[in-house]
Amino acid sequence: MPHVITQACCGDASCVYACPVNCIHPTPDEPGFGISEMLYIDPETCVDCGACVSACPVGAIVPGHRLPEAAERFADVNAAHYGHAQDDVARFPVAHDKRLPLAPIAKPRAVRGGPDVLDIAIVGSGPSAMYAADELLKQPRVRVTVYERLDAPFGLSRFGVAPDHTSTRSVMNLFDDVARHENITILLNTEVGRDISLDDLRSRHHAVLWAGGAPTDKPLPIPGAGLPGVQSATSLVGWYNGHPDFADAGPDLSCERVVVIGNGNVALDVARILTADVDELAKTDISRDALAALRASAVREVVVAGRRGPAHAAFTLPELIGLADGHARVQVRPEDLGGISADDVDDSTVAAKVALLQEISQRPVPAEPFIRLTFGRTPVEVVGDQQAAGVRFVRTGTDVEETIDAGLVLPAIGYRGVPVAGLPFDEATGTIANVAGRVMDGDTPVPGMYVTGWIKRGPSGFIGTNKTDSGETVANLLADVEAGALSTVG
Ligand SMILES: Cc1cc2nc3c(=O)[nH]c(=O)nc-3n(C[C@H](O)[C@H](O)[C@H](O)COP(=O)(O)OP(=O)(O)OC[C@H]3O[C@@H](n4cnc5c(N)ncnc54)[C@H](O)[C@@H]3O)c2cc1C
Ligand SMILES: NC(=O)c1ccc[n+]([C@@H]2O[C@H](COP(=O)([O-])OP(=O)(O)OC[C@H]3O[C@@H](n4cnc5c(N)ncnc54)[C@H](OP(=O)(O)O)[C@@H]3O)[C@@H](O)[C@H]2O)c1
Repeated sequence: MPHVITQACCGDASCVYACPVNCIHPTPDEPGFGISEMLYIDPETCVDCGACVSACPVGAIVPGHRLPEAAERFADVNAAHYGHAQDDVARFPVAHDKRLPLAPIAKPRAVRGGPDVLDIAIVGSGPSAMYAADELLKQPRVRVTVYERLDAPFGLSRFGVAPDHTSTRSVMNLFDDVARHENITILLNTEVGRDISLDDLRSRHHAVLWAGGAPTDKPLPIPGAGLPGVQSATSLVGWYNGHPDFADAGPDLSCERVVVIGNGNVALDVARILTADVDELAKTDISRDALAALRASAVREVVVAGRRGPAHAAFTLPELIGLADGHARVQVRPEDLGGISADDVDDSTVAAKVALLQEISQRPVPAEPFIRLTFGRTPVEVVGDQQAAGVRFVRTGTDVEETIDAGLVLPAIGYRGVPVAGLPFDEATGTIANVAGRVMDGDTPVPGMYVTGWIKRGPSGFIGTNKTDSGETVANLLADVEAGALSTVG
C-alpha cells in the first residue's frame, strides 16, 4: 500500500528529495508549494519504499497499512490532491503523468571569494534560524554563531507548538543535529539589543542574519479588549509551553465558557488544550503549572468564533481532521454552516474541509468539555464592567447582533513582529524591510544585514516553510559574498 502524509506535515519538503520516484508534491519549485496546507503522496506513483519516512523530521509519513484509525482520512486526502491537480494548470503546470522522474535538487556549490573564514551571526534559534544555519554550514568555510535570548533554543518549535503535537515537536531533534555541527556555536541567554548591541554584532561578524520571529500578538481593535479576562492566545500558548516571559500569565479558568476570537490553527490549539483530557496532557511536556491549573479548570465549552464563513476558515484541513478524528470533542451546529455545501466549492482542500464540518454537524452533542466551531461572527465589543463577561458579535455582512457570554476571552488573531532598533521596519506588515532576505533601507541594501522567518515574511506558514525561506536568504547572502558586497563589515 502507498505511504500517506498525515497531520503533522511541516512542509519542509525533506521527503520530496528523498523520494526516488518524485511522488510527493507540491515540490518547492512548483507554484502550489508556498500555499499548500501540507504535502501529498501520489498513491499511483508511490513505490512504498519508505525513503520519505526516514527523511521526514516530524514523523508525519506512515505506510498505508499502518495508518492509525484517527489518521485514516489522510489516505483519501493524499489521493484527492492528485485527482484535483490534473485540472489545476495554474497551480500545477506539469500534469502528474508528465512530471520528471526525480524532483530537481540544487546541488550546493562552494562559494568563491570573500574572506577565508566567513563568520556569520544569526539572531534567534527558531526554525528559520536553524534551517538557515543548516544551509550555511554546507559551506566548509562558514562559522555560525547563534545568539538566543532564552535559556532554551528552537523558538516556537519549543514554546509555540502545542504540547499534544508530540510528532511536530520532534522537529527539535533535527535542530539538535544542526546544533551539533562543529562549526556552529549557540549562545543562550544572550539577547541582541540588551546583552550585546546590533552594532557590536555587525562589527564582529561578516554578516548578521536576523531570525527573531514575530513575538507579540496583533491587538484586537474593539472596545473592551483591555478588560481583565481578555488574554491573548500568544500569552496563553507561552504559559502552557513554559515560556519564561509568560510564567505569570496563567488564565482564570473558573468560568464555564471561553470564547476564542479567530479560527486559525493557533485558535484550534488553545481550544484543544483547554478541553483536553488532563491525564493525556500529563504525558506531554506541557508546563506543570499549566497542567495543575487545567486539572482544576471549570471550563465546559470553548467557542471558536471565525468572522468569515466555513469555506474561509483559517484553520487547515489536517488540523481539522486531527480535531474531528482524534481525542477532541467538537461541535458544529448545522445552522452555523449557513447552508454551504462542499459542492459549492472549487478548491478540493476547502471542499474537504466543508464536507468534514458538515459531517461533524450531524454528530450528537459531545460530552463536556467540548469545542464549538462557529462562523460568520465579527466581534464588535467585549462586554462587561470590571471584567469580561462575553463578546458581542454581528453576523458578518448583516446588522444582526448576538452576545456570547464568556468569563475568558482569548483573541487568537495572529502574531506580529516588533521593530529592531537600527533596522528599517515595515509597520504595515510588521516585518523588517527586506527584499528576498536582504535588509533594505529604502531602495538600498543594508550591507551585511539579512533577515529570515516570520520577521522576514510575516507570521504565517508551517515550521518547514522556513526551510525554503531561509534557503532564499542564505543564497542571497552567499551571492553577496561572491560579489564582494560584504567587504565593508567584519
Ligand atoms: C502557537 C503556535 C503553534 C504552532 N504550531 C505549529 C505546528 O504545529 N506545526 C508547524 O509546522 N508550525 C507551527 N507553527 C508555526 C511555526 O512555529 C513558525 O513557522 C516558526 O516557528 C517561525 O520560525 P521563526 O524562526 O521565524 O520564529 P520563532 O520560532 O519565533 O523563533 C524566533 C527566536 O528568536 C529569538 N529572539 C527574538 N529576539 C531576539 C533577540 N533580540 N536576541 C536573541 N534572540 C532573539 C526568540 O527567543 C526565538 O527563539 C506554530 C506557530 C505558533 C505561533
Ligand atoms: N498545527 C499547525 O500546523 C499550526 C499550529 C499553529 C499555527 N500554525 C501556523 O502559524 C501561522 C499563524 O497562525 P494563527 O492562527 O496565529 O494566524 P492565522 O492563521 O492568520 O489566523 C488568524 C485568525 O484571526 C482572524 N482575525 C484576524 N484579525 C481579526 C480581527 N480583527 N477580528 C476577528 N478576527 C480576526 C483571522 O480571520 P480572517 O481569516 O478572516 O482574516 C483568522 O481567523 C499560520 O500559518 C498557521 O497555520 C500552524
